[in-house]
Amino acid sequence: KPIYVLNGPNLNLLGTREPEIYGYDTLADIESRLRQKAGDQALEFRQTNSEGELVDWVQEASREAGCLILNAGAYTHTSVALHDALRACTAPLIEVHLSNPAAREAFRQTNYVAPAAVASIAGLGPHGYEVALEAAIRMKA
Ligand code: DQA
Repeated sequence: KPIYVLNGPNLNLLGTREPEIYGYDTLADIESRLRQKAGDQALEFRQTNSEGELVDWVQEASREAGCLILNAGAYTHTSVALHDALRACTAPLIEVHLSNPAAREAFRQTNYVAPAAVASIAGLGPHGYEVALEAAIRMKA
């Protein structure tokens, strides 16, 4: 089964968006490094700014994915709909954040993703995605 890597709002702007917080790598850079690391393992790598589309993709991942890696961006801190979809999702979930929300503003301290996750990786920048992929591959093995 493929490993799904889903990215939420504003992550399409990586590389130019507050690089002092999120780094200079683009999402395409991150995807190509993951594909290299994945080798034969199929990856479904996507980004959306839409909350509803993200919910649809989590439902799809529940049916199709061996493991789900998710950076939900700001929906992490706001979306009960995403939380419910993740609760219903039968694929194991690894949460990723480039920054460490725990060390940031008060409004980032609410997290609707973490309670549904097997593991959370935050603060490692783009490398966090690679750590997550390594764990996902082991989890599936
Ligand atoms: C983020 C952290 C979120 O708080 C923020 O809204 C993002 C990016 C991260 O990867 O560090 O959009 O998920």
